[in-house]
Amino acid sequence: MAIKEYFTPTHVYFGEGAWEKAGEVLKAHGASKVLVHFGGGSVKRSGLLGKVEAKLDEEGIAYVELGGVVPNPRVSLVRKGIELYKSEGCDFILSVGGGSVLDSSKAIGYGVYGGGDVWDFYCGKRKVEGTAPVGCILTLSATGSEMSDSSVITNDETDPVYKRGVNTDFGRVKFSLLDPMLTATVSKYQTACGATDIMMHTLERYFHQGYALDFTDQLSFTLLKEVMKWAPVALEKPDDYDARANLMWCGSLSHNGLMAAGNPNNGDWSCHQIEHELSAEFDVAHGAGLAAIWGSWARYVLGTDRDRFVKLGEGVFGESDPVKTIEKFEAFFRSIDMPTDIKGLGLDFDEAACRKAALGVTFQDARKIGNFKVLDTEDIFNIYMMASGLK
Ligand code: NZQ
Ligand code: ZN
Repeated sequence: MAIKEYFTPTHVYFGEGAWEKAGEVLKAHGASKVLVHFGGGSVKRSGLLGKVEAKLDEEGIAYVELGGVVPNPRVSLVRKGIELYKSEGCDFILSVGGGSVLDSSKAIGYGVYGGGDVWDFYCGKRKVEGTAPVGCILTLSATGSEMSDSSVITNDETDPVYKRGVNTDFGRVKFSLLDPMLTATVSKYQTACGATDIMMHTLERYFHQGYALDFTDQLSFTLLKEVMKWAPVALEKPDDYDARANLMWCGSLSHNGLMAAGNPNNGDWSCHQIEHELSAEFDVAHGAGLAAIWGSWARYVLGTDRDRFVKLGEGVFGESDPVKTIEKFEAFFRSIDMPTDIKGLGLDFDEAACRKAALGVTFQDARKIGNFKVLDTEDIFNIYMMASGLK
């Protein structure tokens, strides 16, 4: 049996008002000048940014702002962040926003520490060997980046555009301030995308080859049921604390490694790879892209290990027919207005588009993806075809 690591060094502060700790926690970490990184304006509109900066003022911590992170965050802004951090003599990065802002912050951290071209870390040319310190105030429950080892960046300076992730324990941030009520202003669409992403981080881990620790399976079923219970409540009543808090904590635990603990590997991750090609090329929201792909992937790989699907269905829905289980997940996605095919993303894929995207996923036939079922370019092409209603 392979030895599996479980490493979650992030100091989490969870509960209403957690963000108010920003000043004291940064001070405890020895920060004297902070790069405050944020997105397209939601944290300004909500007033959160000003209130956080007041907390830094109270502790005598200087700061410089860098806003403008867009969903599917771009390497061009990361480069600006690295320069700004250095020229301003910063010693800490504070991410105030969703997963995109946090991933951009992590990338700035790697670039500051490692020097050279930060994209090297994302295209696999160099390994991350350290980072400038990063902490976060999370405003959207979705990616789990607040406890994960991952950062996903889009290179908008190349043609075609590349979206690549890097996984390293240096990506586990120093602290995460998790106030569920900060997510009350998230739109219905982003709330649903977030719920889908949270579910997918557990489903991707659940489907893997080799030994499966039953306790981890049971935790996974509970997490999936909780997200399906609370996402509709958050959509109906955006400021419901229970709904926002359960979604937030599910988001963190879904992607911090817990849902693969005790198993020999980290899961399948094909749906993420197949989705990232869509969000790189067409800038779709990550969660929606996952919902559009999952059912087709599941049908395609079902024969690999039907029993795994049976256990999932029984654990989540009390359903022992695997095909009905897949349909039930899709019905849930549709109930929260997520698409369950590529058309639903507003994209009109023909055979050539499916072929191009499949080749994109395998880096022009240079790699295979997946663990539950290893997929080559032809397999991925078939899944895109199914998701486009062409097969
Ligand atoms: O930019 P602002 O104005 O802040 O608006 C954002 C953005 O438009 C808005 N938003 C965030 N918090 C809000 C809010 N609006 C109102 N009230 C609030 N409290 O929501 C929009 C989406 O934000 P974004 O950060 O892009 O969403 P998410 O957290 O879903 O992040 C998606 C990115 O993370 C990557 C995805 O691929 C995608 O690039 N992922 C990162 C992972 C990781 N690091 O572990 C794992 C995931 O699998 C995923 O790949
Ligand atoms: Zn994801």
